[in-house]
Amino acid sequence: MTATTAPHSPVNRGVAPVTYGTGDRTPRGDYARARADYTCEQDWAAYAAADHDTYRRLYARQLQQLPGLACDEFIAAVRQLGAPEHIPRFDDVSERLLRATGWQIVCVPGLIPEEAFFALLAARKFPVTDWIRRPEEFDYVVEPDVFHDLFGHVPLLFNRSFADYMQAYGAGGLKASRLDACELLARLYWYTVEFGLIATPQGLRAYGAGILSSAGELRYSITSAEPRRVAFDLQRLMRSRYRIDTYQATYVVIDSFQQLFEATAPDFRPVYARVRETIAAAGEIDAGIVLPGERQFRT
Ligand SMILES: [Fe+2]
Repeated sequence: MTATTAPHSPVNRGVAPVTYGTGDRTPRGDYARARADYTCEQDWAAYAAADHDTYRRLYARQLQQLPGLACDEFIAAVRQLGAPEHIPRFDDVSERLLRATGWQIVCVPGLIPEEAFFALLAARKFPVTDWIRRPEEFDYVVEPDVFHDLFGHVPLLFNRSFADYMQAYGAGGLKASRLDACELLARLYWYTVEFGLIATPQGLRAYGAGILSSAGELRYSITSAEPRRVAFDLQRLMRSRYRIDTYQATYVVIDSFQQLFEATAPDFRPVYARVRETIAAAGEIDAGIVLPGERQFRT
């Protein structure tokens, strides 16, 4: 085991580029039009034909890969995004989502600050970036765009247990901000919402948005012999660094969305204290490391 206490390994610089200010660059997007809560109107008429075409091609590429790799809940709900030929109107998706689980999607100019992000999730509102990657970024875009946010994240918000988990995560985030524990909590988001796998009777399936919106990582996460796949354990996960520059070296596997919701329902204050004690005593866990005796999932 090569766990280390080094706080700023290049493997995990800062927190995930999930929210504004956590990456190295100034976020892309026009923030001048955002309201105080960072939401704005989706200017659907402003999309060019090329933007819709990029969305259509990204959607088609991911859709044909889903069977056998994405979880059933995702596949069942992906059509709720509407016609795959053009970037959806957020209001239309939101209306369907509100009826299904009481969630809405709101438009944002790009990454938003942590507190604003948590506050929206706690209110069952998922922020979706409105701009789409340029054609030359077709295979990889550094910051989340409308395709990642919408295609990757929104279908599972149609699932009641997952939707409840996301709201609880937002509420937990607001508390974590006051407890200086956002980095620990961000690891939970990373290893579940962005890169989570779920064990099903048919085998492992992806439910994380970072995987589901990636052309290459969807197959890699399920079929490659290279990465480690370990069972969900909240404290272990909060000690675990992650990689933001390559495919993941470790994936965390849940049994069900209900398990995820229940495991993260209790107050995290004592959890943070125990994780900090363990990190002080035994170090953090590098991506790709499996602990002695730890159960691994095979492909
Ligand atoms: Fe994301």
